[in-house]
Order: sequence, then C-alpha cells, then structure tokens
Amino acid sequence: MSTEPLPGTLRIGVVGAGAIGGYVAAELTAGGAQVTLLGRSERTELLRALRLDGHPVAGAHEHRVSADYAALASVDACVVAVKSTDTEAVATALAQHLKPDVSVVSLQNGLHAARTLRRHLGERVAGGVVVYNVMTLPDGTRRQATRGKVFIERLAGARAAGVDAIAGALARGGEDVEISDHIEDVQRGKLLLNLNNGVCAATGLGIAASLENEDARACYAACILEGIATLRACRLSYARVAALPAGAIARAMALPNWLLGPMAKKLGGVGEAARSSTLQDLDRGRRTEIRELNGAIVELAERAGRTAPANDVITRAVLEHEHDVTHGRPAAFVTPSALRARIEAARRGAS
Ligand SMILES: NC(=O)c1ccc[n+]([C@@H]2O[C@H](COP(=O)([O-])OP(=O)(O)OC[C@H]3O[C@@H](n4cnc5c(N)ncnc54)[C@H](OP(=O)(O)O)[C@@H]3O)[C@@H](O)[C@H]2O)c1
Repeated sequence: MSTEPLPGTLRIGVVGAGAIGGYVAAELTAGGAQVTLLGRSERTELLRALRLDGHPVAGAHEHRVSADYAALASVDACVVAVKSTDTEAVATALAQHLKPDVSVVSLQNGLHAARTLRRHLGERVAGGVVVYNVMTLPDGTRRQATRGKVFIERLAGARAAGVDAIAGALARGGEDVEISDHIEDVQRGKLLLNLNNGVCAATGLGIAASLENEDARACYAACILEGIATLRACRLSYARVAALPAGAIARAMALPNWLLGPMAKKLGGVGEAARSSTLQDLDRGRRTEIRELNGAIVELAERAGRTAPANDVITRAVLEHEHDVTHGRPAAFVTPSALRARIEAARRGAS
C-alpha cells in the first residue's frame, strides 16, 4: 500500500515524539493530517492517546518515527514539542531541512523556546501553549491528565496559513484551540500555573498528591504570589489560562486542609496518575526544564533588582535532584513540610 498522502492532504511535521508530541500527533492525525513524527531514534510506535475523560483521541495505530530531518522536507507546517533544553539543536536542523515558507509552532513551556526557534527560522515561528498535562504511560499511551486548552500565536500575512492549518487539524481532532494575539501573556500565565512543577519535582509528589498536601500547596501559593509580584515589577502582563485567575488560585492553595480538603485537586481536573513533566524527567534520570520554570521567575526577579526566595529554594532543590539522577543516584526528595520551612527561612532572610 502506498504511504503517499492523497493530493490535498495536509502534511504536518511533529518534532519530539514524547508526551506532547505523541498526543498532538494523534490529534492531528484524527483531524485528517498526514503526520511525520521526528524523534531521536528511528522506530515504530503504537500511537494511542486518551483524553482527560479516558476516551481515545482516535483509534490506536502504528506510526513510524523518523530520526532523519530530511523526512520533513515536504511538510506544509511543523510543530516543535521537544524540551526547551533541546530547542537550539532542533532549530539548527529545521533551518536546514524545512522549506522556507513552512510555519513552525512551538508547543513548549517557558518564555524562551519560540524566540530561540525564531533566531534560526525567522518570523514564521509561532509560540504556543498547552495548558494541560500529558503523561506517557508505561505502555506508551499518551494520557491527558489535567484540564485545559491549546493556545497558538496568530501570525501575520501568508505565514498565517500554516498556523491556521495546524489549529484547524487540531480542532478537527477534538482539541480546544484558541488563536492568540498575546501569546507571551499566555506563556507567562501558564508559567505561573506551572510553578507547581517545581514543588512536585522537589518533593517527588504527583500533582494530585501535591494539591492535597497543605504544606506543598503553601509552597505553590508562595511561588505563584512571588511570580505575580515579579512580573508586575518587570511590567510584564500575563493572561488567565485556567478557570480561575492565578492570584485566586494562589489564595485557594494557601487555604488549610480543613477548608479546602479534597476540593483542591478538582481545581485542575487532576487525574490521580498525573506527574509534573519536571518530575517525569527526574524519574527518567534526565535534565529538567526547572531553569525555564521556577528558575525563570528567579531570573526575572534578579533583572528587576529583587529576589524570589520561594522559587529560588525550589529551583536549587530540583537542580540538586537533577545532579543526583544524572549521576545515577536517586533523588533525595524533600518532604513538603521541610520545603515549606526552607522557603519560610529564605523569605525571612530576604526581608
Ligand atoms: N508533558 C506535559 O504535560 C507538558 C504540558 C505542556 C507543555 N509541555 C512542554 O512540551 C515540551 C515537550 O515536553 P514533553 O513532556 O512532551 O517531553 P518528552 O516527553 O520528554 O518528549 C520530548 C521528546 O523530544 C525528543 N527529542 C529531544 N531532542 C530531540 C531532537 N533533537 N530531535 C528530535 N526529537 C528530540 C525526545 O527524545 P528522547 O526521548 O530520545 O530524548 C523526546 O521524545 C516541553 O517544553 C514541555 O515543557 C509538556
């Protein structure tokens, strides 16, 4: 049987065959696109993706993952879904292999990935934000584990076509997609929500467990409030990306168990198995994106002549874990109460 796409079929490259890349590839395929998945190793994967409610995105199917960027030479649009630490390498390869008019959408976390891609690929790069969490289960299934939508930056002129094509295929595949004129605000809004990534990675707790733990929630609340104050000091705006504004989430997280109790994890529609992507990296003995998450608040605070002690304590704890796991040792996770005590001590020291 020919693997050539039918005339008129949209061809989309997805770079990074991990949690987000695999999930999005399943949605794009369900939306009628011919997807070329680009990974670091050549393989065949059973592409199976489940939504938050447990329903499959589409039927599971075998998908070839290519490790040769030449496979992207004929795509009409491209999605980047690698960790931000790998962006530079991907950008260099894409600059050599994509046709010059192909739009590129970054679905990566943090504030810098799209800018890095733009340095190599120019103004055809659109930023993007996936608000929800996706886990790769042991059998390879990509499982949406929290609630949220996908935002993609609007590009001007002819470049808009590639972005619209990706957004259209995602929407046909069942995704809730919004085209945004203020993607950097959305990225900063997601960054604030994402600060729990560091709390989970410092303590080793899954997302649901972290939201049920009063001390872990207090750490998360401190990180968000510090993040908001830092963004304000830098005169940077941020968008609401969840049902509640970030400040209200922080206030809810600071409530004691007797007031919030089991309602906490319902806030994000969090499944029991959900693990933050930073903790998933530690699980796999890898470098994390902590510098782009809690570390980004520390960096912004320094730029504004301030400190961000809660995010700094968490960034340092995760960097220690990262050092351990990348040297073959298990991470010495901090208990939520010890992390809270460290943060309170650091804040006293900073004031
Ligand atoms: N997971 C989530 O819940 C979530 C939610 C929203 C946003 N995000 C963001 O989405 C991005 C991807 O995260 P993820 O969780 O999907 O990560 P992931 O599961 O680790 O997947 C990343 C994939 O990229 C591949 N890769 C790395 N360098 C590459 C290269 N040069 N060429 C081709 N493939 C390469 C990796 O291959 P190897 O396995 O060989 O290293 C891996 O399969 C990150 O910025 C993350 O913050 C994640």
